[in-house]
Amino acid sequence: MSELPELPVLDGDRRARAIRSFVRREGRITDAQADALARLWPLYGLGPMPDGEHVHPLPLIDFDAAFGRAAPLSLEIGFGNGERLAQAAARHPDINHIGAEVHRPGVGRVLLEVEKLGLSNVRVMCSDAAEFLRAAAPQGAFCEVVIQFPDPWHKTRHHKRRIVQPAFVATVADALAIGGRLKLATDWAPYAEHMLEAIASEPRLRNLSPDGRFVPRPEDRPLTRFENRGLRLGHEVADLEFVRV
Ligand SMILES: C[S@@+](CC[C@H](N)C(=O)[O-])C[C@H]1O[C@@H](n2cnc3c(N)ncnc32)[C@H](O)[C@@H]1O
Repeated sequence: MSELPELPVLDGDRRARAIRSFVRREGRITDAQADALARLWPLYGLGPMPDGEHVHPLPLIDFDAAFGRAAPLSLEIGFGNGERLAQAAARHPDINHIGAEVHRPGVGRVLLEVEKLGLSNVRVMCSDAAEFLRAAAPQGAFCEVVIQFPDPWHKTRHHKRRIVQPAFVATVADALAIGGRLKLATDWAPYAEHMLEAIASEPRLRNLSPDGRFVPRPEDRPLTRFENRGLRLGHEVADLEFVRV
């Protein structure tokens, strides 16, 4: 995420649509991950099979049909290697867990874990979660939306790429059921402040921190590769939690 080409200059709406919180980078996909995608995507994947080149928009999805049952829905955005997604699904079998990630090796990895643990309550999408929330998410349907260690986009000129922005937060509030939770964590202090500010602009989300800032680290949040890296660099981790009112 060091030097990126500047975005092309676009006007109004086109520009808003073109700004994404990620850059397509396939990286190395292992044989086991590629094999998992081929074998397991038909069982656990939502939308078209990821091809490593395109980020497909999701069609409208009947989630009860996709899971084969009706249950509260949880959405994790940018699950990375899926450590939290698999653990949460194992701990909360009563919830239907949806994970969104655009990085194909991470999707392959979580599929292997889902198979190993024999989980039937996980589905994954390899699509832009912000676009999904804007265009295809069922309104008021989610009991939680989780975003852990989103790309911080350190440089000022890249701040517009941060996924947590007022318009995005409004789509999260639309998707959450009353009483549903938005849970975030970051190891980049300026992004934590940016999150507080962006979410404060949404009157339907109330901060659960007594002092209106951060909450204690949730006991069940597993240490991920990204959090570990932040800790090694001496960063302080901030947890945030909001309820849909
Ligand atoms: C810094 S990583 C953190 C991964 C994981 N949550 C963790 O804590 O280890 C952020 C991840 O978000 C994914 N991501 C960024 N924007 C996304 C989007 N709009 N939709 C889905 N995934 C996204 C990236 O591909 C990346 O894997």
